[in-house]
Amino acid sequence: MRPHPKVIEEFKAALDDTEHQNHRYPPFHGLPEFREAISRWYKTRFGVDIDPKTEALPLIGSKEGIAKFFLAYLDEGDVALITSPCYPAYIGAVAVAGGTLHEVELSPANDFHPDLDSIPAEVAAKAEVLLINYPNNPTGAVETRRLYENVLSFAAEHDLIVVSDIAYADLSLDPGYRAMSFLELEGAKERAIEFYSFSKTYSVPGWRLGFVAGNADVVKNILSIKTNMDFGVFMAMQRAGARVLDAGDDLIRPTRETYRKRRDAVMAGLEPLGMKAAEPKATIYVWASIPGSYRSSMEFAERVLTATGVVFAPGRGFGTYGEGFVRISLIEEEARIAEAMDRIASSGIV
Ligand SMILES: Cc1ncc(COP(=O)(O)O)c(C=O)c1O
Repeated sequence: MRPHPKVIEEFKAALDDTEHQNHRYPPFHGLPEFREAISRWYKTRFGVDIDPKTEALPLIGSKEGIAKFFLAYLDEGDVALITSPCYPAYIGAVAVAGGTLHEVELSPANDFHPDLDSIPAEVAAKAEVLLINYPNNPTGAVETRRLYENVLSFAAEHDLIVVSDIAYADLSLDPGYRAMSFLELEGAKERAIEFYSFSKTYSVPGWRLGFVAGNADVVKNILSIKTNMDFGVFMAMQRAGARVLDAGDDLIRPTRETYRKRRDAVMAGLEPLGMKAAEPKATIYVWASIPGSYRSSMEFAERVLTATGVVFAPGRGFGTYGEGFVRISLIEEEARIAEAMDRIASSGIV
């Protein structure tokens, strides 16, 4: 999808700006202008107070920050509790940091919410971190306040840092749903941080722009790693990012509308195939169960690809508990999605 013209305009204006020296190395901690915009965004969007000096840090995309968070916090033997299926970069980041991954199942029977009581006591005792991601990639599931409260009390009981990834918080497909921030919970900032990404919301994944906000110590420790590994985000992009954040919903509404139509095209195409999927209220994915005649998500995805040329991502790639599902991305235009679903229906493979 093309970025909103205003998003491009803001970046062009920042590139042409002669008032500031945007083309120099940026400050490690990011530009005050962008950090203040993050703080304003949290206040207006969620009613959350974020100190722009100590509780917000610009990132070269949220993936970068997530990886550096694990480098800062996991030593050998430390456990990271990660809900599964999940964004695969979490799994890689834990491995690179030398930590131990414990996957906490997200099952359709539980609305893809983790059953925290299923985590063995000895695993919880070795855990440093609990990572949650709502709206969820790949399942499209959304949070409830009750779930977040349970996560916070579990984390307090086991002295864990909560990492909340809200990369899709602004991509609601259902007009009745508005994502919350984990930091809205009273006391959350004592042990939680939250990652946000511009990539999908503003259709600029190549820009590499995101941020982390929340607990000041954790933010400081991510910054310590960053200071030794990179120079932060290009200043023109931070200035453009600040204006984009301030512009709010106007820039995102058309994107949501487009993804909603694509989601509806996928859902309509799945029905005659007999493939089950809960209609996602947010994100840009549909998570569908594989037909009973296939033994694995890989076998089904391969068959779909070779018979029809359509790519479904096999669920196993999103963790152990992704088996039995495929993820269908809404990145193609509606007409192409409809064609893909027609091809599968007429191929006779389902
Ligand atoms: C859940 C989730 N978090 C983070 C990211 C990374 O986004 P960014 O482009 O900001 O690194 C993605 C990208 O697909 C994602 O799905």
